[in-house]
Amino acid sequence: MVRRRKKRFHTNNEVRIAAQTLITSKTDLHGYITYCNDDFIHYSGYTEKELFMQPHSIIRHPDMPRTVFKLLWDYVQNGKEIFAYVKNLSKSGSFYWVFANITPSYDANNNIIGYYSVRRQPTAIGIQTADGLYKEMLKIEETEGMEGGEAYLNNVLKSFKKSYNQVIYELQYKG
Ligand SMILES: Cc1cc2nc3c(=O)[nH]c(=O)nc-3n(C[C@H](O)[C@H](O)[C@H](O)COP(=O)(O)O)c2cc1C
Repeated sequence: MVRRRKKRFHTNNEVRIAAQTLITSKTDLHGYITYCNDDFIHYSGYTEKELFMQPHSIIRHPDMPRTVFKLLWDYVQNGKEIFAYVKNLSKSGSFYWVFANITPSYDANNNIIGYYSVRRQPTAIGIQTADGLYKEMLKIEETEGMEGGEAYLNNVLKSFKKSYNQVIYELQYKG
């Protein structure tokens, strides 16, 4: 089934995040924000009160394919870290690209108790690659849903002969 969502207000105004910035947040098991730092507050444009215990999709940009978030959740719920380029939407309607590393957090008994994301300034090649890929994936999702999106992404990865995390990591650090 192809799900259509109402597009949130967004503009073409891009905000570039500063070089040394670390935008961090922690969530519970369902992606509700339990902590975010000052940089998160600054770039999202919301107050801490507006963000606390809100779903992370509060900053979801309509240009992001659903397939990317499915992949993200598949990885972290299975105890694995994931790297991802994410286009985020601020309260004002501007967008800002981030390079995110998302990891599960564990208790002393090895149970996952939440998730943690650290976002850095993305490389130009990373943004350019993700932007092109996501545009194609969105188009495919429109007609073929997430199955189509996943199949497309898997084909792209096959052509690189690398895992998803490897491709993303290399775009950031070896691009
Ligand atoms: C630790 C963590 C950080 C996340 N950070 C973001 C983020 O910066 N932007 C975003 O759109 N989604 C982020 N997500 C994914 C959201 O939980 C959600 O899956 C996504 O926004 C899509 O929401 P939707 O399925 O309601 O459209 C994060 C999830 C976790 C676990």
